[in-house]
Amino acid sequence: MSEPSNDALLAPPPPQALLERLKDYGQEDAFALWDELSPDERQLLVNEIESLDLSRIDRIIRCSLRSHGLPTAAIEPVPESSVSAVEERTLEDRERWWKMGLKAIHEGKLAVLLLSGGQGTRLGSSDPKGCFNIGLPSGKSLFQLQAERILCVQRLAAQATNEGNAAPLQIHWYIMTSPFTDESTRKFFETHKYFGLDADQITFFQQGTIPCVSKDGRFIMETPYRVAKAPDGNGGVYSALKSSRLLEDMATRGIKYVDCYGVDNALVRVADPMFLGYFIDKGVSAAAKVVRKAYPQEKVGVFVRRGKGGPLTVVEYSEMDSSLASAINQETGRLRFCWSNVCLHMFTLDFLNQVANGLEKDSIYHLAEKKIPSIHGQSMGFKLEQFIFDAFPYAPSTALFEVLREEEFAPVKNANGSNYDTPDSARLLVLRLHARWVVAAGGFLTHSVPLYATVLCLGGHLCLPCQVKWVRHRLISICWGTGSCANLEKMSLILRLRNHLPNGFCRRPLISSLGALNSGRLNGFCRNFGQPARQEEEEEEEVEIDQRRLPADYDPATFDPTEHRSPPTDRVFRLVDEISSLTLVEVAELGSILMRKKGMTEPPVVGVMKPGAAGLGLAMKGPSAAKEEKKPEKTVFELKLESFEAASKIKLIKEVRSFTDLGLKEAKDLVEKAPSVLKTGVSKEDGEQLVEKLKALGAKVSLE
Ligand code: UD1
Repeated sequence: MSEPSNDALLAPPPPQALLERLKDYGQEDAFALWDELSPDERQLLVNEIESLDLSRIDRIIRCSLRSHGLPTAAIEPVPESSVSAVEERTLEDRERWWKMGLKAIHEGKLAVLLLSGGQGTRLGSSDPKGCFNIGLPSGKSLFQLQAERILCVQRLAAQATNEGNAAPLQIHWYIMTSPFTDESTRKFFETHKYFGLDADQITFFQQGTIPCVSKDGRFIMETPYRVAKAPDGNGGVYSALKSSRLLEDMATRGIKYVDCYGVDNALVRVADPMFLGYFIDKGVSAAAKVVRKAYPQEKVGVFVRRGKGGPLTVVEYSEMDSSLASAINQETGRLRFCWSNVCLHMFTLDFLNQVANGLEKDSIYHLAEKKIPSIHGQSMGFKLEQFIFDAFPYAPSTALFEVLREEEFAPVKNANGSNYDTPDSARLLVLRLHARWVVAAGGFLTHSVPLYATVLCLGGHLCLPCQVKWVRHRLISICWGTGSCANLEKMSLILRLRNHLPNGFCRRPLISSLGALNSGRLNGFCRNFGQPARQEEEEEEEVEIDQRRLPADYDPATFDPTEHRSPPTDRVFRLVDEISSLTLVEVAELGSILMRKKGMTEPPVVGVMKPGAAGLGLAMKGPSAAKEEKKPEKTVFELKLESFEAASKIKLIKEVRSFTDLGLKEAKDLVEKAPSVLKTGVSKEDGEQLVEKLKALGAKVSLE
């Protein structure tokens, strides 16, 4: 606010009609500082108030405040029959949906709609979230990842219709911004040449804003002449589509289905043909991808049924009663409300039209209590928002499609340093998935990416760039899970299983072994296939446990998700079940195929398995050996540094680096903290050579 001038001292009164209108809605305080404003500021204030649809805003504020905290209809878990679970899908279903989806895409019936109006406050970035680079070796932003996936689907759709050489049909991309993200989003796309997409296939549009209010419903003033406003939530997309006339635009383009998704999932499968095919096949008006909730306090909305036999909808994590969030289904031992919303929805255009009109009349918005910058500093007040999933109760039919968390959900919500959903955790999830694809396609990685970890072990060292070789055509079909490489995929899961063995099958939580990790011990984590299980694991008493259950010490009042790893995925359990049911002859065949594939001449020795799961390591020697259950001869060792002469420390560090992946600091730390294990999974011959070399440098070493 500028110094009051003489003009200001003789300030004309505020426009009477406008003041009266404000009084009608109890908002006349917006003019409280009128007399102290300069003429320009007064004009800004008048423009500001005139731009507001006061009667609509008043209705929304009153209805939302009045219903705040009132009991709502009881919620019920979604019946399992309403969910297409991963394990229920047959190969035929998947192929059929895939083809149907690609066909519809090729016919131009699918548009994708990105919700990108949110501000990355939790992420600690002032840029739109989509510009965020989560630190992948490629340095790609979230926007770029999504754009390239669209390009890829376009190519696949063209190939599927034998028109691979023709220019692929373009999938139209609608991007919703807000006044806070619009300019920088558009600029980012322009600067990056639309990431290889055609500029014309992208339409940016802005969602609306709504005034922030105090607890008694009065506007909070950000400055003496500006009302504090916030985007009207991602559910603002419906009215924004309507007011920007984009629903007509979609109809003109022949679009029938719209895939709406949030910007902040690094693994989001944009325009997924399989999901689209499923959606068309089911003939529903709305569908959503869901994953199983990992732990009670996970910040995800969950799908529920509102009232007995009522419609499916989502209860947002911020509005979920904590005792319901942690309620357990006694039969399954899993969470009662377990279907998490990943913010990826499919709608028919017809339904969007219906909702755009219906939701507008629904004046009950969600209230988020937040600190709001105001003329009084940071004031506590409410932001009013609609949520995209508020449309679900209007849907004549809704279908839920389970996807695998490790394949499709890598949320980027909080800044690095937080315990979950950070750029670091998302990056690790992307690298892990890509590593699995490479292995599944018969490729190999020259750097290890841990395939199984909790967020606590994240750090720069886990994200080494993977140099990969792969069989390209296999890789593409595996990535999209079309099933044509089912055997390969299965094989990769088996390979993956080896990484689970030490922890996936013993009672001690993985986190305890991770705690022992330092940056130099990555090799210890990505254990060599041939490395024997550690002694204490072998001695551990075997107890039948169901790891899909919550931890035995689970208490909703004190549960800290970061201290427990989330349960292995259903896919892992399915695989375990499958392997457990193999006959010994089949196990032997599996073993020898794996060995051939891995170019191994010696059978590996693996750790503890549950009863019923025949030891792969033994089985690799053939059925007869498995039957004999002979204790295998030790073939791999740990190279241990006991002590060393101070004068040879530098040479020793250099030598250690020559046979490990360690950086200088990590190798130095490892040497200095002797006694320490320098390398695991060493063959006898290699180990003896290393022992000789290190002894020559004045070190005392052993091979155990
Ligand atoms: C969202 C979902 C939650 C889900 C979780 C999965 C909503 C309301 N909540 O939670 O149920 O489990 O993702 O990660 O969908 N956005 C706008 N305009 C806005 C506000 C948000 O476009 O006014 C966009 C954001 O840019 C983002 C998406 O909506 O792309 C999700 O918004 P965000 O606020 O991040 O939702 P979450 O709390 O993470």
